[in-house]
Amino acid sequence: MTKILLSAVAVLIFSSPSFAVITGSAHDFSASTPSGEICILCHTPHGADTTVTNAPLWNHEVTATATFTTYDNTSATQDSTPGQPNGVSKLCLSCHDNTVAIDAFGGATGTGTDLVATYDLGGTKTAGYANIGTDLSDDHPIGILYDSALVTADGGLNALATATTVGTDTIADILFSSMVECASCHDVHNAFGNANLLYRSNANSELCLTCHAK
Ligand code: HEC
Ligand code: HEC
Ligand code: HEC
Ligand code: HEC
Repeated sequence: MTKILLSAVAVLIFSSPSFAVITGSAHDFSASTPSGEICILCHTPHGADTTVTNAPLWNHEVTATATFTTYDNTSATQDSTPGQPNGVSKLCLSCHDNTVAIDAFGGATGTGTDLVATYDLGGTKTAGYANIGTDLSDDHPIGILYDSALVTADGGLNALATATTVGTDTIADILFSSMVECASCHDVHNAFGNANLLYRSNANSELCLTCHAK
């Protein structure tokens, strides 16, 4: 009986979202890589690409797109000026802007740029799914400096020290060099086990309300 109870407790603990992992997520490409590895598409222990600032031991071919069309609503309500995607967002766009073959890693040229056609992980996804493209004007702005000056200018953003309610994170902790990037909203390794690899579930728009005081 004690054993059964203990395993029930273990199941409860290990099924908690904070134990979620990349295995089995949309970023688990192990069934498609010749070596059956997961990390290798994005990381390598040796000979990494150092051309992107702060890239973590990067192994995937980096997008050559020089100019992305950025979000622009500055004549109306927007108080920030999104820059060209840099750092971590450029890494995401190395697969998600649809210009680089998904299987172009470790120096290989690769074959297909369509994410689903190359690595269809099942489900009802059709060609073009997860293709963000090089025109980011229809996407939530990234490359935005989220500092106290922007909080004051906007009037509807939470202060940087506000808790996100995920672990001990504050808003400042989910920014990259003080910037809102793709990885401010997403966790590439599925650490939180939310749909769409989100950092925080967006039930009741909780993800949005993390930063926006609406
Ligand atoms: C689809 C691409 C992708 C895959 C697959 C991937 N990573 Fe990452 N990884 C990234 C990106 C992008 C970052 C930088 C963004 C960030 O830190 O959230 C990163 C950051 C990291 C970091 C540094 C930041 C941190 O979270 O500690 C470590 C360590 C890491 N990855 C390990 C791994 C390991 C181990 C695997 C395989 C089990 C793996 N990654 C699989 C894309 C990937
Ligand atoms: C990590 C913090 C963060 C999260 C999470 C976040 N936003 Fe934002 N958002 C910002 C910042 C910073 C701006 C730039 C505000 C500005 O320039 O006035 C912005 C801009 C916007 C804008 C454009 C405002 C304009 O004036 O054109 C909209 C709309 C918006 N966000 C909606 C959302 C929605 C919907 C969600 C949830 C899906 C969300 N945001 C999640 C930080 C965030
Ligand atoms: C090595 C290429 C690669 C990199 C780098 C990469 N992705 Fe992906 N991502 C994919 C592919 C391929 C899919 C779609 C898999 C499928 O067919 O379901 C995907 C799916 C997704 C999805 C949809 C998840 C779902 O559950 O359907 C999100 C969100 C996402 N990626 C975000 C990101 C973000 C954010 C980054 C950077 C931090 C990133 N990706 C980096 C290849 C990549
Ligand atoms: C402000 C938060 C936020 C930012 C920044 C953000 N995303 Fe998302 N993303 C979301 C949310 C929320 C969803 C789920 C949308 C839905 O349910 O319709 C999503 C969905 C996705 C998907 C799933 C498929 C699709 O096309 O809807 C992909 C892929 C993706 N994001 C990639 C990215 C990449 C790459 C970046 C950076 C260029 C990025 N995201 C920046 C919040 C964000």
